[in-house]
Amino acid sequence: MVIQTLSVLICLVFFVTNSLSCPQSSSSFLDKRADKKFGHVLLISIDGLHQKDVDVFTTSHPDSNLSLILKNFVYFKKAQAFLPTDSFPGLLAQLTGGLPKTTSVWYDKSWDDTYFAPGSDCKGNPGYNVVWDESLDVDATNINTTINPDLLPLRINKDDKCVKVQLYDYLRVNTIFEVAKKHSLITAWVDKLSAYSIVNGPSGKGVDDFYSLEIASLGSNKAHLTFVKPYDNYHTQAILNWIDSNNHNCEPFHVPNIFGGNFQSLSVAQKSSSNQSEYEGGYADANATLREQVKDALNYIDDILGNFVNELKKIDPQKLNDTIGADKLNQITSDDVALIWLKKDSDSKDAVKSLSDNKDALGIAEIFEGDTLKAKFSCSHDKDTRCPHIAIRGVPGVVYTTSTKKIAEHGGFNEDDYHVPIIVYNPSIVRKVNDDNIKIHSIASFILSALGLDPNELQAVVKENTPTLNFFSE
Ligand SMILES: *[C@@H]1O[C@H](CO)[C@@H](O)[C@H](O)[C@H]1NC(C)=O
Ligand SMILES: *[C@@H]1O[C@H](CO)[C@@H](O)[C@H](O)[C@H]1NC(C)=O
Ligand SMILES: *[C@@H]1O[C@H](CO)[C@@H](O)[C@H](O)[C@H]1NC(C)=O
Ligand SMILES: *[C@@H]1O[C@H](CO)[C@@H](O)[C@H](O)[C@H]1NC(C)=O
Ligand SMILES: *[C@@H]1O[C@H](CO)[C@@H](O)[C@H](O)[C@H]1NC(C)=O
Repeated sequence: MVIQTLSVLICLVFFVTNSLSCPQSSSSFLDKRADKKFGHVLLISIDGLHQKDVDVFTTSHPDSNLSLILKNFVYFKKAQAFLPTDSFPGLLAQLTGGLPKTTSVWYDKSWDDTYFAPGSDCKGNPGYNVVWDESLDVDATNINTTINPDLLPLRINKDDKCVKVQLYDYLRVNTIFEVAKKHSLITAWVDKLSAYSIVNGPSGKGVDDFYSLEIASLGSNKAHLTFVKPYDNYHTQAILNWIDSNNHNCEPFHVPNIFGGNFQSLSVAQKSSSNQSEYEGGYADANATLREQVKDALNYIDDILGNFVNELKKIDPQKLNDTIGADKLNQITSDDVALIWLKKDSDSKDAVKSLSDNKDALGIAEIFEGDTLKAKFSCSHDKDTRCPHIAIRGVPGVVYTTSTKKIAEHGGFNEDDYHVPIIVYNPSIVRKVNDDNIKIHSIASFILSALGLDPNELQAVVKENTPTLNFFSE
């Protein structure tokens, strides 16, 4: 299956929620994280999103979610994909920090001289064409299918035994998920077919919650935006569930420290010609004038991004209650600021201390009380009991709220196909454009650095001396 990876990588870095998200990481690990580091990284890969699409769309939609994201981001403008631009090696580069020469994964279809055909008991001549796609499925017409182990190629292991090649042991180097697991962090990933479980890495255990739905089960409908949107919705919902500290299936889990997934709608719209679909896909000219279907897909992607950003910004005001102690409260009124009235004036100092101790978890930028509150709001509870005891300002973007809403290429783009701008977003980041010539595999080191982990724990980074994104050093 050839799915192009002409994608913009959108990497949302942020703090969320309470330290309960990572129970084992309270002591030395958290201490190591400097102020500018982040608690969680959400990596979103949108197949088909070119730099030009971003420019054309945000120019015509200045109020869009994407435009908002582009106000607080670092734009690694010259980041490039590499050949081959297939999504299988492309994703592994992002997750290992290594190019195919190091991962030894060149494509989803390749060859290994030492492998044997499934069912051969390693007899006969070695050499087998390794295919990591839907042909391994128990039933590729079922969206919920899994890999049929009887279809896996065979190899002779160190003990001279004939064993099945598991997807993950096809990969030669570890992944960011495995490094995260070593430090007791939580990981999750959603992708388009079971073979992507290779992201678990050689240990087979890098991803706590791996989720895939077989895109091939859509059959010929996988070329139609009308059918691919509902498919992408499953991915969106999984990520929203994770942000809300559930697993993909909505059971209690943790907010993963590294998580993300892949979206297909836009690339489908780009590749679709008018006779394949109800309305025209692709681009009208070399200036990337968007045809209807691409417009539709970009609007759809914009909604997805909006959903993530909105979900990330929410902090349940109940957490403020729990931190202060509901028995001490008369009232909390919350939105992008929270106003707090206490039962007893004398509880004020303790409440401020508790809030301050949990600043990161509660997304607090500033706490006003006593003199600082007086200075900010020109009021004091002593003089006017309507004046709150404490006011909190959230870090940019944070809203204290309980509201939940659950919820190829045409037109001469060939040069752009290798431009895979990386957007690193956080509401507190000041917009910056970075012109370093980097390849997309630098994102792996960046993600670990963002979490306060050492990129050199990635074998490929050590081997290739992969540079990280120049993000923290300025
Ligand atoms: C996959 O299977 C689960 C469990 O049987 C079911 O709840 C879910 O709806 C299925 N997913 C899809 C997308 O059909
Ligand atoms: C679209 O229709 C035209 C004219 O009927 C035909 O020549 C062309 O091959 C079709 N393209 C595709 C991709 O089906
Ligand atoms: C692209 O835009 C430029 C500048 O507006 C214009 O000169 C050129 O004719 C356009 N090309 C096409 C193919 O529309
Ligand atoms: C941003 O995303 C949200 C959530 O999907 C959506 O409701 C909203 O319409 C989007 N904003 C714009 C301006 O399109
Ligand atoms: C917080 O505490 C106040 C006062 O006890 C209570 O009225 C309110 O319902 C609690 N929850 C939230 C989310 O504000």
